[in-house]
Amino acid sequence: MSVWSELRVSWQAFKTRRKMNRQFGRREDPFSYATTPYEAARLDAMDAALGPGRLEEVLEVGCAEGHFTERLTRRARRVTALDISTVALARALKRAPGAVFVAADLMTWAPRPEAAYDAIVLGDVLYYLDRPGVGAEFAALFPRLASWLKPGGRLLLAHGFSSDKELAHRRSFRERFEAAALRLVSETIPDADRGGVRCLLSTLEKI
Ligand SMILES: C[S@@+](CC[C@H](N)C(=O)[O-])C[C@H]1O[C@@H](n2cnc3c(N)ncnc32)[C@H](O)[C@@H]1O
Repeated sequence: MSVWSELRVSWQAFKTRRKMNRQFGRREDPFSYATTPYEAARLDAMDAALGPGRLEEVLEVGCAEGHFTERLTRRARRVTALDISTVALARALKRAPGAVFVAADLMTWAPRPEAAYDAIVLGDVLYYLDRPGVGAEFAALFPRLASWLKPGGRLLLAHGFSSDKELAHRRSFRERFEAAALRLVSETIPDADRGGVRCLLSTLEKI
């Protein structure tokens, strides 16, 4: 990365961290995971998309307060959960003490060299990174994330949308992973709706 590129990425991370820490600082559960049927249905659909059975190593990106992390710890031997917000992570640690939490920006974080995941989960997070000025770094994320999967490992994308334009944008995440040699296994839009917001759930696999 050039110095200018590093500066743009750090500035973007600073703004996102500040925004998310403010949002999580206002109250617990700002996205209402505990009380909204849409979120409960979305997390159920994500759980099912990972397939039956136990997993070895899982990476969750943008774990927020750990609502899905908690489920992951029940079915995986080792869960690494990453978030840029330290306020959210403090709550996530209480909810899912069995996970390994990392405070970092996905744009610059990398797992330990020998790590290879059975599953990588990206729920409502990629649109925070898709920002003007960091397009090249954002594009580089797709092959990087794909390279962290084991052969046969699954990558789960679950992003909300409320218009055709947003749906096309969420699909473009899946298309970028396909261009990074992941194979699409399934794609659904679960029935649940939250004030016009629905979720595009895509499951991809490393061949
Ligand atoms: C809307 S929440 C999604 C929570 C959960 N993954 C889900 O599916 O509902 C988005 C989370 O992504 C985190 N996030 C945003 N940008 C990030 C980045 N660059 N690196 C790591 N986490 C980030 C935010 O702090 C926030 O906790």
